[in-house]
Amino acid sequence: MANKVIYPIFDKMMSREDKEALLHQRGIMIWMTGLSGSGKSTVACGVERELHRRGILCRILDGDNIRTGINSNLSFSAEDRRENIRRIAEIGKLFVETGIVTIACFVSPTNELRQMARDIIGDKDFREVYIATPLDECERRDVKGLYARARRGEVKDFTGISAPFEAPTHPDLSLDTSQMTLKEEVEAVVKLITCE
Ligand code: ADX
Repeated sequence: MANKVIYPIFDKMMSREDKEALLHQRGIMIWMTGLSGSGKSTVACGVERELHRRGILCRILDGDNIRTGINSNLSFSAEDRRENIRRIAEIGKLFVETGIVTIACFVSPTNELRQMARDIIGDKDFREVYIATPLDECERRDVKGLYARARRGEVKDFTGISAPFEAPTHPDLSLDTSQMTLKEEVEAVVKLITCE
């Protein structure tokens, strides 16, 4: 049993409460789910900037810093998406327990995957934000040209085209970026974080 040789030092480490007191803020995970191109990262960047302005420390986790780094060995098969989300949730939990407002921007296409993330991070520290931009709008934007490639069959298992996306049933917040301004979206998420 490998675990037998691991001696926990949790009783010697400074606590989450110590860190939150130091930062004068509370750690929380804002889990953004939605189709590719729905606007998750754009909203997250706006929120990060506004929090920074208010003196609140924030960390964004998204495909650019996760799928190119720690998760660069993972594909888009159902099994690898699961491992992608599991690792992100475990990493996110470390940030949250350091008192940092953490925003995860991942397609996380199924209720089961999002529930796993919630279970790892803990219900009280987890808020689900659905970036509910409709598929046709995401496809019209096609920022990365991936929808066109998926339609041509060049990208397999593409969410919304050839792989499923289940809309969350009870998100804490739902934002359709084709109907709102970025400013309104940012305000809504910041409100969720600061409980104004
Ligand atoms: S997740 O399903 O495992 O949560 P994740 O958010 O990490 O997905 O990555 C999604 C991003 O990877 C998309 O925004 C898109 O740019 C890119 N991508 C490449 N191939 C696929 C695919 N087959 N399905 C979905 N996204 C893909």
